[in-house]
Amino acid sequence: MKSVITGTGIGIPRNVVKNDALTELMDTTDEWIRTRSGVEQRCYADPGQGSAELGAIAAANALGVAERTTSDIEAIIFATMTPNYFFPGNGPVLQAKMGFGEIPTYDIRQQCSGFLYGLDLADSLLKSGKYRRILLVGAEVHTPFMPWQNGWDATIGLSDRRVTAEEYAANTAIRDRTVLFGDGAGAAVVEAVEDGERGYLGAKLFTDGSNIEALYVPGVGFRHRPYVTARQIEESLSIPKMEGRSVFKEAVLRMPMAVRAVCAAASVDVDDIDVLLIHQANLRIVEAVARQLGFAPEKVPHNIERYGNTTAGTLPILFHECVGDGRIRPGMLVCFTALGSGLHWGASLYRA
Ligand code: UT7
Repeated sequence: MKSVITGTGIGIPRNVVKNDALTELMDTTDEWIRTRSGVEQRCYADPGQGSAELGAIAAANALGVAERTTSDIEAIIFATMTPNYFFPGNGPVLQAKMGFGEIPTYDIRQQCSGFLYGLDLADSLLKSGKYRRILLVGAEVHTPFMPWQNGWDATIGLSDRRVTAEEYAANTAIRDRTVLFGDGAGAAVVEAVEDGERGYLGAKLFTDGSNIEALYVPGVGFRHRPYVTARQIEESLSIPKMEGRSVFKEAVLRMPMAVRAVCAAASVDVDDIDVLLIHQANLRIVEAVARQLGFAPEKVPHNIERYGNTTAGTLPILFHECVGDGRIRPGMLVCFTALGSGLHWGASLYRA
């Protein structure tokens, strides 16, 4: 038995925000953002549109491609670090919103590695015989991390207010993160298929929590009593903190190691990989990982220029686009790799 992705879909919000729009809000330039990260634009969700709503759009599209209905799905796995509610997770939100039966839903939070972990979990659940068809969703809405009162509403045409000098300074203080991220979702229907070459070949997944502070949200958590206070928000402790250079180095070091490890475990040569899908956090990271593994650029697609980093959304969105435009064709060996907050990272292999 193999776990086969029988349909994929994406949910991208309608508000396209170019780099130039951000220069109105903070001390940044299109040139800095492009050359340091590769991002040219990103899409921002409408107010009231959460990751469950984007996930539902992606899931509906994936079900359509797989020619399945909600009643065919036996379990849902939802990967996000930006759920609609602190609790419950997005699984039950999606279940009710889309009218699934009273099926089990699993909420997982491995941030940028969410889809990687989710696909491995789906494969294990299918292989156990527990379910035959699983819906896997990776979705994020990062914009609530950004302080909308500081003029972000102008970027999506909801206001024509110019930021004050104080707001400009506050936005500039977090510019290294805000310019990188966008909102978006991807979904996949994963099914147990008895015959054929297609399907999931396995993963090597890793966690190292010894330096959580490299990328985390310091406030708004249950170590604090109460878990959220006005002071935490005033001090921006509700906004992710990131040691950009250190995460960059970890990504460039660990993703190639994970790719080599999963190839060794599956007894395939790294050169046998036809398409390498790398988490879209920074184009320079993508290029460095590809270089280390000796991959030509055409084997390593990217879309960070259009979406920025959509965390758990990036790998399924990229996979969906590559299947759609023929860069991934039946029989090709696809490798997924990601690294992000946790740190969680890894790589997996999939025969399309
Ligand atoms: O998906 C989750 C995992 N995350 C990642 O993988 C992200 C990994 N890290 C990165 O992608 C990069 O480290 C960044 C894109 C975040 C930053 O790029 P960098 O080349 O490492 O820049 P830096 O942090 O060393 O900053 C260089 C300069 C600084 O100014 P000074 O101190 O040299 O005067 C920053 O203040 O760039 C400045 N800077 C900016 N300037 C204009 C930082 N952000 C901005 C900005 N616009 N948005």
